[in-house]
Amino acid sequence: MTQSRVTDDVNLAASVLQNGGIVGMPTETVYGLAALANNKTAVARVFEVKGRPRSHPLIIHLASADELERWGVLDDNARRLAAAFMPGPLTLLVPRTPLVPDWVTGGRDTVALRVPDHSVALRLLESVATGVVAPSANKFGRVSPTTAQHVVSDLGDDVDLVLDGGPCRVGVESTIVECAQGEIRILRHGAVSEEDIIATLSVRIESDSGDSRAPGMLKSHYAPRARVLLVENASEARAVAQHSEDAGEKTFVMNHADVREYAESLYSDMRRADQNGVAVIVAVMPPEQGIGRAVRDRLAKAAADQSND
Ligand code: TXA
Ligand code: MG
Repeated sequence: MTQSRVTDDVNLAASVLQNGGIVGMPTETVYGLAALANNKTAVARVFEVKGRPRSHPLIIHLASADELERWGVLDDNARRLAAAFMPGPLTLLVPRTPLVPDWVTGGRDTVALRVPDHSVALRLLESVATGVVAPSANKFGRVSPTTAQHVVSDLGDDVDLVLDGGPCRVGVESTIVECAQGEIRILRHGAVSEEDIIATLSVRIESDSGDSRAPGMLKSHYAPRARVLLVENASEARAVAQHSEDAGEKTFVMNHADVREYAESLYSDMRRADQNGVAVIVAVMPPEQGIGRAVRDRLAKAAADQSND
């Protein structure tokens, strides 16, 4: 295994991918663990390094929305969402074409496709000129990385190279929307919000985060080591924090008036709390609208199960 290295050299990262390597890749949401979709051995290594079950399929990242229809079958809704939000923090789950390898989708008849809105990622994708799988570059069950340093501290020498594109602007994973035969369903909330999607398509949609159809959506999927307690406002947070401090537990209160900032710093705050030996995170839930839904969803998952260290 090669030494783990951090670089900002896109050409170097492209050549590592083309030689069958795996690379930490920046995106606007979170860092991904990239491999060429058509390289079976490299994709197998991604599952292995993450410790992720093979039954959890991977998102294919593309350099441009123009490439979507080579990999997936897009209905009208999917086309309109792609036109409105790609590049951007949106993943379309659509029926796959024969180009999509079985080892990416775990044999499913659908594929998840996304065009990240990050100049470094787009240059990398253009340069390899094919689809790149990239699950979040964390060990399975841990919070996603939002800096190159997070990737190094999670994956160390197991990754060939980390391409540093700076801290992620969005901070939570992309919105996953399933589009097939005129039906739409949100499988994971993100920065492209339910309101955005409704406004673009002028339709009703079923919100279905947590559905088994997106098998990565386990309840305990975004957990720090600290215990996470959820509260609805700042005064409740003070009371709960006081209580746990009185019990001798190191406590950290998470709250942001600006919900975009909340999303951006969510995972790095959780990581920092773990590093600082915090025992209890008291998290104020943001309002359930816009990207607030994504933050609430990740916080609820972080609080749901703390047993997956
Ligand atoms: O923002 C993001 O989407 C990041 C960055 C790196 O692009 N990637 C990411 O990938 O979050 P990952 O693998 O951690 O989450 C992808 C989710 C998983 O829950 C997976 O099960 C689901 O998408 N998924 C992918 N392909 C699927 C398919 N064909 N059917 C159902 N679910 C699928
Ligand atoms: Mg993930």
